[in-house]
Amino acid sequence: ASQLRHGQFVGSLDCGTTSTRFIIFDRYANIVASHQIEFPQYYPEPGWHEHDAEQIMESCDACIDQACSELETLGWTKESVKVIGITNQRETTVAWSRKTGKSLCRAIVWDDNRVKNLVVHFENQAKTKGVEYEGKVHRGEEGLKALRKLTGLPISTYFSALKIRWMIDHNADVKKAFDEDDLLFGTVESWIVYRLTGATDGGVHITDVSNASRTLLLNLRKLQWEPSLLEFFGLKASMLPTLASSSEVYGKITYGLLKGVEIAGLAGDQQAALVGNKCLRSGEAKCTYGTGAFLLFCTGEEVVESKAGLISSVAYQNGKDSKPVYCLEGSIGVAGSAIKWLRDSMGMVQSAADVNTLAQKVPDTAGLYFVTAFGGLFAPYWDPSATGMIIGMSSYTTPAHIARATLEANAFMTRAVIESMKLDSGVDMKEMKVDGGMTNGDMVVEILADLVGLDIVRPEMRESTALGSALLAGSAVRLFGWDIARPETLHEVNTAGSTTFAPKLSAADRDAKWEGWQRAVERCRGWAGG
Ligand code: G3P
Repeated sequence: ASQLRHGQFVGSLDCGTTSTRFIIFDRYANIVASHQIEFPQYYPEPGWHEHDAEQIMESCDACIDQACSELETLGWTKESVKVIGITNQRETTVAWSRKTGKSLCRAIVWDDNRVKNLVVHFENQAKTKGVEYEGKVHRGEEGLKALRKLTGLPISTYFSALKIRWMIDHNADVKKAFDEDDLLFGTVESWIVYRLTGATDGGVHITDVSNASRTLLLNLRKLQWEPSLLEFFGLKASMLPTLASSSEVYGKITYGLLKGVEIAGLAGDQQAALVGNKCLRSGEAKCTYGTGAFLLFCTGEEVVESKAGLISSVAYQNGKDSKPVYCLEGSIGVAGSAIKWLRDSMGMVQSAADVNTLAQKVPDTAGLYFVTAFGGLFAPYWDPSATGMIIGMSSYTTPAHIARATLEANAFMTRAVIESMKLDSGVDMKEMKVDGGMTNGDMVVEILADLVGLDIVRPEMRESTALGSALLAGSAVRLFGWDIARPETLHEVNTAGSTTFAPKLSAADRDAKWEGWQRAVERCRGWAGG
């Protein structure tokens, strides 16, 4: 061990929807060591999606252990990891006990839509009982608007408040803990920080403002939990984590190979990807294609209210005394998960990459559309009553057409979001930066360019989510002189190039296909519960 060299690295724990990764970066954003583990997904009923929070935690511990062992095998001390950041699948709701530090039930994942009926219930509440905004109670449609102004969000199955409400109403253990003030609520980063920093033995119960802005409980402008919303959803302040910025020292890891290392960066994965792409200023945008797809457009220190079905969130807050930076987001619920479905549920392909090969076998979908509204539709429709639908089939249809239609759905959903972004920001995007696992296949990106009609720029370095959280953590302690507030301090970071994919389809063909897509979307709406 004495021969091991001592370097300076930053770690990033990226807790996604289907897997956990721990990546160790150097000052240039080169990956020095990493480890990834997929964890079980539970789909107990149609539309339901759960995780075991304890299994998520085990995967975090194992990833940190494995990546640090790899670091040592490569000749570096584990003390070379100076600081770590955490980034996570957002909205997924964990409930645990203050007394035992153990999770009380399975976590409800962000794309789970069991709370459809609660959406209707709370929309009615907002209209009849009203929502307080700027000292006045607003009712009817104005009630819904007030809630949107307060939080930046519509009432949807997507956000955490409804999920924790459901747990209290349907799980006896959670209800008991709620009544006895033993219930702690958090999104995934909150849960992991609590456990890494010691759980019942001094663990900190915090969340960062980028994650908090996805709960329906945060006052987006004041960056405080909103008491009137707690009352609206019937929740208690004592169960909520303390709010923190996205870049500051929150505490130290209390066990394992990184014992004593500070945690100094926290952000939801999509916001972290924005930072990792160095989209730090107003007007800069990226779209990440993971389980879902999320187009984020940085709006600077201003909250831009969408009139076209997008949501407003905190992009990041660079330290507790800094003003937050906001973003507009177009959230697409299904992207890579549709590919996973073709592989795991339909058995149509052996691997995700095979979908590209299969889709390539046909020049077009022969009029087939696949609206992948598995958990309803998110932006810009926000319709929990929509379901997945394949339309336009004939005896000519083959798996290749379905594979191609799956990739096209991804592109159409992106176009819908871009159209909204254009309406809201007044900015006509000329090109779009993309990343995420799904963009590794050229075919996916080519179809995107064709159907969206923009140049699509794919960077060589596509670990932007993990990199973003590493930058937030490094910046908090000024490792390598990094400072998110001064993007010039990041000039050495990730200088790798990118590939641009230009559209090849004619505008007329593109518009004809878009028109077909819009008709298909209309048909799948209202089907759930119909
Ligand atoms: O809002 C959900 C999002 O954070 C999930 O991200 O990368 O797991 O698709 P991902």
